[in-house]
Order: sequence, then structure tokens, then C-alpha cells
Amino acid sequence: MPDPKTSADVAVIGLGRVGLPLALSFADRGLRTIGVDNDPARLGAVREGTMPFQETGARELLARVHASGGLSLSERVADAAAARHIVITLGTPSFSHIEIDMRDIRSALDDLLGALEPGHALTLRSTVAPGTTEFVAGYLAKHRGFAVGEDVYVAHAPERIAAGRFLEEIDSLPCIIGGVGARSGEVVAELFSVFDAPIVQTTPVQAELAKIWANILRYTLFALPNLLMMDCERHGANVFEVIDLVNRDYPRGGLAQPGLTAGTCLRKDFAFSEERSNAPGMLLAVSRVNESVPLFLVEGIKRRLSPRAQDRPETPGSRAGVTPGSGLGALAGRKVAVLGLAFKADTDDERDSLAHKLIRLLERELADVVAHDPHVPTPTVSFEEAVQDADVVVVAANHHEFREPTALAAIAAGASADCLVVDPWNCWGAGQVFAYANELAVLGVERA
Ligand SMILES: NC(=O)c1ccc[n+]([C@@H]2O[C@H](COP(=O)([O-])OP(=O)(O)OC[C@H]3O[C@@H](n4cnc5c(N)ncnc54)[C@H](O)[C@@H]3O)[C@@H](O)[C@H]2O)c1
Repeated sequence: MPDPKTSADVAVIGLGRVGLPLALSFADRGLRTIGVDNDPARLGAVREGTMPFQETGARELLARVHASGGLSLSERVADAAAARHIVITLGTPSFSHIEIDMRDIRSALDDLLGALEPGHALTLRSTVAPGTTEFVAGYLAKHRGFAVGEDVYVAHAPERIAAGRFLEEIDSLPCIIGGVGARSGEVVAELFSVFDAPIVQTTPVQAELAKIWANILRYTLFALPNLLMMDCERHGANVFEVIDLVNRDYPRGGLAQPGLTAGTCLRKDFAFSEERSNAPGMLLAVSRVNESVPLFLVEGIKRRLSPRAQDRPETPGSRAGVTPGSGLGALAGRKVAVLGLAFKADTDDERDSLAHKLIRLLERELADVVAHDPHVPTPTVSFEEAVQDADVVVVAANHHEFREPTALAAIAAGASADCLVVDPWNCWGAGQVFAYANELAVLGVERA
């Protein structure tokens, strides 16, 4: 096998939520590792030994790697060629017109092109549309004349780990590798064999499909209870009771629970199938269901708010003096506390969270929105301040702090007397998407 003149074992390009824990894990296993990112703030944080985001166990890992000196950092993608293995963990968003956005990957490839030598192995760890790994191989063949699989190696080894579980799952989840040509799969497997997880070899396109379809499966599985939640509202039924009826002691049940289903992966990975779909629109419909949950919640709130003061003739100009036809709806001037800005429980990741869409929709109703989230970097008010005198409390992310009965009791004590609590996650087990705080508090006390 040709051996490029390298001074490191592996380089990871893109030190984001996927790349940084991976680079640290390689370094922790004794590999001489280069981390590349074009964001100076990101590199600065890592250099100082500060984790730029939450990931279970990563702070200690970073401290260990810092002490060992096993990770060097660079802003220049071409510096990655100093390592035999180059792993790309760059973002792969989707354009709004449903097409994979490969600009970051294309740019990294262009930066690497001149620096690649026979013996280099390039692994795509990013989530990509079917055919992208072959495109990357073709790009190297076209521009450098490499025989991929013989001179250089290209494979897709998709990241399938859930945020918060990286260090546990890197050693346990089967590592899928789809290599191009004769030897790419085998060479890239050498790299990933530093971890304890079993390696599963397949073709590049099957690796790509397996990754995106795992996310499509989840996105669709969550769309079903979300659609049911909206159906139940229409029919005056309780979604949690219907789900229980579907699942209870029924061997072919398994309906999931509703919620605000989003996040940077689920919200875009379906597009990598949809852009060349045999059933165009099917996955778009799945997306539309999940995307319409915030609006469903806002409409549900509006229907339930007790008659507004606008119906009582009082001082003109005050909220009480608002007259029908003024353009102000049921939520205008109402205090709405949104609990949780992250896209899912116990993460600090706000990217593509539906909480932000919910807030935008509430603001379009002229509600006075306040948010609280103990995890995210966006500054928010305290829990007590958020719920104090709130007319509505919406649990947008089911962080463990909100699932405590004490949180419910604090809402009942601090919010307005007839505060509406919106809890599509069923945080307190009351089984009501929309309920009044006082009723829930009684239920909470009964449960406790
Ligand atoms: N976040 C997850 O939980 C997760 C899980 C599985 C798969 N994925 C996939 O992994 C890939 C990376 O996701 P992520 O969440 O880590 O993204 P991210 O946005 O957190 O990280 C990307 C990093 O790349 C850097 N970067 C961007 N352009 C660059 C360039 N030209 N040169 C060098 N650095 C550059 C950015 O500064 C950033 O630090 C995506 O394809 C995503 O779909 C993500």
C-alpha cells in the first residue's frame, strides 16, 4: 500500500457536534490527531480546553486530550493532508427547495485536492445524499487522476450517534462503512477499529441510504402521533388515551408519543431522499405534519383562552379596552412562557428547534413571549420569572427539569389563576395537551 508522507494518523475536518467528539476520541485512543475548523472561535475554545457545546463526558475527555497533547489544531483544510486518514464532518444542510447543499464539502475537497497523495484515505462522516460518496471519488479521479480504491481511498462511514451519547455509542453502535473500489472499505475500517464497535462493510450508496433512512424512520414515526394529536383535537378525543388504546397489550402496536419533532438532522435528512423521490411529496408531507405542530398548539391556545378582557368595556387603549375588529386576537398582550428552546430534551442544541418557530408564531399573535431554558446558550429568563403571572405556559422541550412535579407546582403557584398549560410531551403524566395549571397541579399531587 502506498504511504503518504504524513506526520499524523488522522485529521478531522469540521469540529462541530460530530467532529469534535470524534477527533477527541481518536486522540484519546492514542492516534496523532489534527482537528481542522475554519471558525477561529471554535478553535480558540478547544485550545483553551473549553467544550463549545454540551456532550456527556466530553469535558473530561477534552481535558485528558489536552494533557496528552494528542490533538493539534488548524484553520486550514489543506493541513489535514498531514494525516493519512482524513475524515470530513462538515455540515450538509438542505436548500429550502429540497436539494442537498454540498458547498462545505465541495470547498473542503477543493482545498485538499492539491495536497492529496497516494495512500490517503478520505472518509465522509457527514450525512449525505445517495451518490455523494461516488461523486467525491469521481471528483478525485477527475481532478487528480487517482484510481480510487487503489491509489487513494474513499468511503462513507456515517455518524449515527445521538447527541449526548457519543462516548457511549462510538464503542457500541455498529459502524457502517461503504468503501469505493477494491480496498477503501478495508483501509477505513482500520481507522475505526480503534473503537470497540463492530464494523459492517457495505457499498457506499447503501451506507448513505442506511443513514438517511434511519432518520426518515424516526421523523415519520413521530409524525404519526403528531397527526393523531391534531385529529384528536378535531374529534374531541384525547391523544394520549388513543395511543394507550392502540398500544396496550397489543402485539402490533407501538405508536410513539407526540411532541415538537425537529432538530438539525431530522428536519433536513428526509430531503436527501425527497430530492429524487419515487413518491414525490410523501416525505414532504411527513415534514409538514411535524412542522405544523407549533401552529396547531397556537391555534389550540387561542381557542381555549378564557374570554378576553376585550369583551368588557373599559379604559380605551388598555388591553381591556381593545374592541372587536381592532386586529388584536385572543393572544394579544397575553404573557406566554415558553419552557425549552432546545430541539429535544436535555440538549443545548437549538438548531432547527421548533421552539423558535413557536415563538415566532406567538409573536405574530402579539403575545408577550418569555422563554426559559436551563441548557441553551441563548440567554433566557429564570423559570420563576418566566412563569410568574403567565397566562399560558408551553412546554416546548421536555428537559428533565420541567418533568419534575415541583416545576408543575411552581407553575400553579406563580402563574395566573386560569393559566393554560400546553404540554404535548406529557411531562407530568396528566395526559392532556391543553389543561389548566390548577387541574394539573391536583393531578400532579395525586401522582406524587
Ligand atoms: N449533530 C448531530 O447530532 C449529527 C448526528 C449525525 C450526523 N450528523 C451529520 O454530521 C455532519 C456534521 O454535523 P454537525 O452537527 O457536527 O455540524 P456542525 O455545524 O456542528 O459542525 C460543522 C463544523 O464545520 C466547520 N466548518 C464549516 N465549514 C468549514 C470549512 N470549509 N472548513 C473547515 N471547517 C468548516 C464549522 O465551523 C463547524 O464547527 C452533518 O452532515 C450532519 O447532518 C450530525
